[in-house]
Amino acid sequence: MKQRTPVFVNILIIIGLLIVFYYLFVQSYVFFASPYFWGTVVISCILAYIHSAIGDIIENNKFKKLSAEEKAAYIAEKKIPYFKRLYDSAFKKQSATEEKDILIDHGFDGIMELDNQLPKWWLGLFWFGTAFCIVYMAAYIFTDFASPIKEYDAEYKAQIASIAEFEATQPPVTIETAVFSEDNVAAGEEVFKTNCVSCHSEGGRGGIGPNLTDNYWHNQDEKTLFKNVFHIVDNGVAGTAMQAWGKNGVLTGRDIQNVAAYVYHINQEQPPITPAEGGAPPYGEEAHWEKQ
Ligand code: HEC
Repeated sequence: MKQRTPVFVNILIIIGLLIVFYYLFVQSYVFFASPYFWGTVVISCILAYIHSAIGDIIENNKFKKLSAEEKAAYIAEKKIPYFKRLYDSAFKKQSATEEKDILIDHGFDGIMELDNQLPKWWLGLFWFGTAFCIVYMAAYIFTDFASPIKEYDAEYKAQIASIAEFEATQPPVTIETAVFSEDNVAAGEEVFKTNCVSCHSEGGRGGIGPNLTDNYWHNQDEKTLFKNVFHIVDNGVAGTAMQAWGKNGVLTGRDIQNVAAYVYHINQEQPPITPAEGGAPPYGEEAHWEKQ
């Protein structure tokens, strides 16, 4: 007669599965505070106990029908602690006599097959994997669990909200308060790549818009280069393709401060890209900027 799994092991497995199940559907651990979770735990425990009690009755009946020898063997095996029994059975080797019983002769090819029992740990993993797969698929199909689009949406909204909060708490950057900082160059390069390369080309070498790396400037509205770039990007150049990025509400003062830092960087801290190197030809007058 086979030994039964103790009820506490079944309960531990059930609670483990319930936690996985709840987590996949709720997608956080808040369910630990929910009466539904503890309700299902209690109901499952009661069912497990009832199941075990019925098992006890059946076991008693079967036990009565065993021979004295079988009874003794059964009792001896039952005394071994459950986990030791589990461990032994997981790594059990068939003895030679047992092997004889499980040999399958295919008859025609002379090859014998040893119909070994699958190891318990393997079966356990297999059933756990199957159950997990079903719950996971159900959670994926019927809830928002693991949906990349929903996750992206949530992260996107959170990011927009944090940017809005940042803008609300920081005073807006204007041409009076804007300052050049080496730290803004990298962020400015991103702004430039997104908004400006279509006309001013890679690295500001010029295309539809003029070359921003040389010292020739068509618009010289401010005394320093940094403020001049801020002014042009903020107000645009009327009658040309260069729109008023700030006044039109496309870029914030902070974005303009960043992109102006980038333009300053490619103009003052890098060698100019000459027409021989693929830069656009000079446009406007040679500039004599005041120091920052
Ligand atoms: C749709 C094309 C286009 C885009 C996009 C564009 N520009 Fe321009 N930009 C121009 C044109 C055309 C001019 C020349 C205006 C003129 O004739 O004075 C110009 C002029 C400028 C000037 C002044 C150059 C000078 O010699 O006076 C700066 C600085 C500048 N742009 C920076 C930017 C920045 C920074 C961005 C991105 C935020 C940007 N531009 C996006 C077309 C564009």
